[in-house]
Amino acid sequence: MSIPIYTYDAIVVGAGLAGCAAARELQNAGKKVAVITKLHPLRSHSGAAQGGVNAAFSDEDSVELHEFDTVKGSDYLADQDAVEFMCQKAPETIRWAERMGAAFSRTPDGKIAQRPFGGQSSPRACYAKDRTGLTLLQTIYEQAHRAGVKFWDEWYVADLIYKDGKVSGVVAFNIRDMQTVIFNAKSVMFATGGYARSYKINSNAHANTGDGLSIVARHGLPLEDMEFVQFHPSGLSGNGVLISEAARGEGGRLFNSEGERFMEKYAPNALELASRDVVSRAILNEIREGRGVGPRKDAVYIDVTHLGKDLIMEKLPELRDLAITFLGLDMIKEPILISATAHYSMGGIPVDIAGRARKNNTEFIEGFYAAGECSCVSVHGANRLGANSVLEALLFGRFVGKTMVADIDNIELTPACEDDAKTTLAEIDFILKNNGDETIPKLREELQQCMTANAGAFRTKETLDMAIAKVKELRGRFKNIRIKDKSTVFNTELQEAIEFGHMIDYSAFIVESAVARNESRGAHYREDFETRDDENFLKHTMAYMDENGDITLDYMDVVLGKHELKARTY
Ligand code: FUM
Repeated sequence: MSIPIYTYDAIVVGAGLAGCAAARELQNAGKKVAVITKLHPLRSHSGAAQGGVNAAFSDEDSVELHEFDTVKGSDYLADQDAVEFMCQKAPETIRWAERMGAAFSRTPDGKIAQRPFGGQSSPRACYAKDRTGLTLLQTIYEQAHRAGVKFWDEWYVADLIYKDGKVSGVVAFNIRDMQTVIFNAKSVMFATGGYARSYKINSNAHANTGDGLSIVARHGLPLEDMEFVQFHPSGLSGNGVLISEAARGEGGRLFNSEGERFMEKYAPNALELASRDVVSRAILNEIREGRGVGPRKDAVYIDVTHLGKDLIMEKLPELRDLAITFLGLDMIKEPILISATAHYSMGGIPVDIAGRARKNNTEFIEGFYAAGECSCVSVHGANRLGANSVLEALLFGRFVGKTMVADIDNIELTPACEDDAKTTLAEIDFILKNNGDETIPKLREELQQCMTANAGAFRTKETLDMAIAKVKELRGRFKNIRIKDKSTVFNTELQEAIEFGHMIDYSAFIVESAVARNESRGAHYREDFETRDDENFLKHTMAYMDENGDITLDYMDVVLGKHELKARTY
């Protein structure tokens, strides 16, 4: 069977905020660009971002304060040149989105409204009620379409064509009928999103299986800072569905079973609006020490009743609906049950400020770029501040698109050949034909339970070693899988098997990177090394995987700047 080869100037993988923004730039510059996405673009996880997007607009705020908060929030691991770029370009990015049609909520005098979020010196999150990501995604998708971008919806990118230090396309199959196609291009951008699905309780879409990261890692290329997984303080109890930080930004308070507003103990100044890592650990600590609430005592209360019906319906309508749907609790009338939920990946494909992907600490990969949650630029360091991710995705997506436009005429197209699809075809063939006795749902459940228990918001060498052993065990058992659906029509069982393979690979990066970082910094909290150790660990992890799945670690300097290292207190 011959494999069709389609040729474009540029390929963008993923159709969330970063992917759509980059594709629009490329198309408007006259480049032939295709966006390949395993979902309909409007189902991309960017649409699930609720509470806001940061920009220093107001008279009380400044770009410098935004930078400072971001660097402090990152526990000083963020690269300060990248943070400066992001914070400086943030106001312009909001105006740009607004001019394209994004309808932000307004103050009574007509300005873009801003609400406080955790770790901010001044209210900075611009918002559209509690549907900010969806509003922006609808806008940028519409504008990319208007520009003429070609979208390949429900196509699954299974491999990157990478040879001799250069990327020249991807291999993808049509989820509808399994037709495999090679997309040949001068440049490729990954905007494939995050990977919190390897945790049992998480706020992520089912699609967030870290495909892009594992595809890159399988070529022996590095992933950066994978140990830093963010736990958002407020996921609905039991399923982790996001209850936006906007609830606390608008004035929501956290209480334990004894009626204590417990954040007074953990962050006496910022209270519920300390950074996410601090609030999440406080919640989990209350639960561990027996002051949890709810039928399983595994939650705390968030109470917004004092805000009143009008404010809740005006600013938090989506959150109210979610709590009614999933918990049967109406936040207008009563507190609701929440706990920490795996939410965001600070680590990812290492890139410079322009979005060019790194081959190692000093070299770059020709024709390969990344932006958004799958990338590590690194503006978030060890802990991201709320409302900086929507900003990062939109802003870097747009600017990386500009980088690709600038680079593309200097890149020669390396013609693809059918042989480039052989790894993908072999992977599909293995999954369809293997006749073992393991099932993907069982293996996935074991991975998620293990990652939550052993590589979560609290970790030790002992728990991480257990996680390392489990991931290795699951890698072995994956060779013994069997799927029931052997068809070529919407074979979601096959797709889930491919995705689970990706989950094993990036989980290995998380746990191996975490066990080697003998300190606590941001979201990486080691109970056996409770303090930050700048002498030994003020550095980025650069991890590489070999063909057996074994990980080796290297480190890369952090770009420091005007914001000096300090103890981080809230
Ligand atoms: O809480 C939220 O609305 C989430 C926003 C974010 O992750 O930035």
